[in-house]
Amino acid sequence: MFFWDFSLFSQDFTLFSQENDMFSRDFSLFSRDFDTFSQDKTAQSGSPYILFNTSPWLEHFFNPCSNNNYKNYLHLMLTQDEIKQLVANQAAQLVQNNMTVGIGSGSTVYWLIMELGKRVKKGLLFQAIPTSKKTAALAAQQNIPLAELNDVNAIDLTIDGADEIDPNLQMIKGGGGALLQEKMVAAASRELLILADHSKLVQHLGNFPLPLEVIPFGWKQVQREIRESYQVEAVLRMQDDQPFISDHGHYILDCPFQQIEHPDILTYELNGIPGVVDNGLFVNMADLALIGFPDGRTETMHK
Ligand code: 5RP
Repeated sequence: MFFWDFSLFSQDFTLFSQENDMFSRDFSLFSRDFDTFSQDKTAQSGSPYILFNTSPWLEHFFNPCSNNNYKNYLHLMLTQDEIKQLVANQAAQLVQNNMTVGIGSGSTVYWLIMELGKRVKKGLLFQAIPTSKKTAALAAQQNIPLAELNDVNAIDLTIDGADEIDPNLQMIKGGGGALLQEKMVAAASRELLILADHSKLVQHLGNFPLPLEVIPFGWKQVQREIRESYQVEAVLRMQDDQPFISDHGHYILDCPFQQIEHPDILTYELNGIPGVVDNGLFVNMADLALIGFPDGRTETMHK
């Protein structure tokens, strides 16, 4: 999808496409069409969404429709992937020269790596501790220098995604199966910043099935224990008709708890079951979360 940036210069308007500028135009001739638009407080320069007039001239290029709030104006919302890119680009600006940065895993972090790759090309010097083989491969492709967790004393900042975030910044992670390494890297970090689109915000954790990383030997014993203790049917994660194997050679059991009242107690209990390597509850680990919304707003949640 095109991503338009409407810049407002007094009575003159420039429509600019970030993908190509073939439609760039000086709108001064049409300024009378934009009277209402110019009073609109959301029409700030750099606003990441489109508001445009349905003048016959523009109809020639687009297929506009109206909405209730902005009669005759179209308000395009960001897709989920565009929101992920928005927060990732903002977070990438926090990385400074000589930092050691933990890089999470997943589709939000994909955009982070892309942006960091661009900054490395322009001269940014830092080292990254990847949280999965996928992240390591992607970062290497972008010429981001990598180090092992064992090679560093501490990590300045880790930036990662999440599957669910509650109002206390407790999280479920591990949708991509990288929870063990993600948790180890997060635990070694001075700061953990979580990136997410608004759909990850929940009142209570648990609707997203909680991933448990388990030793393949005797995994059914863990499944039985979960069933008996919590009346929850843990599902062995599959990939191409085979059990999914984590980067560290383990299986993943996805546990639909539905509503987790006490994440702090549950994480402790689950990790006490023989055969469980770790679980996807990240309790009291995140310092900050940067949340993106479809209208292009971002909000920061603090611990
Ligand atoms: C992988 C993770 C990811 O951070 C989590 O699944 C969110 O992924 P995405 O950014 O693709 O929504 O924990 O193990």
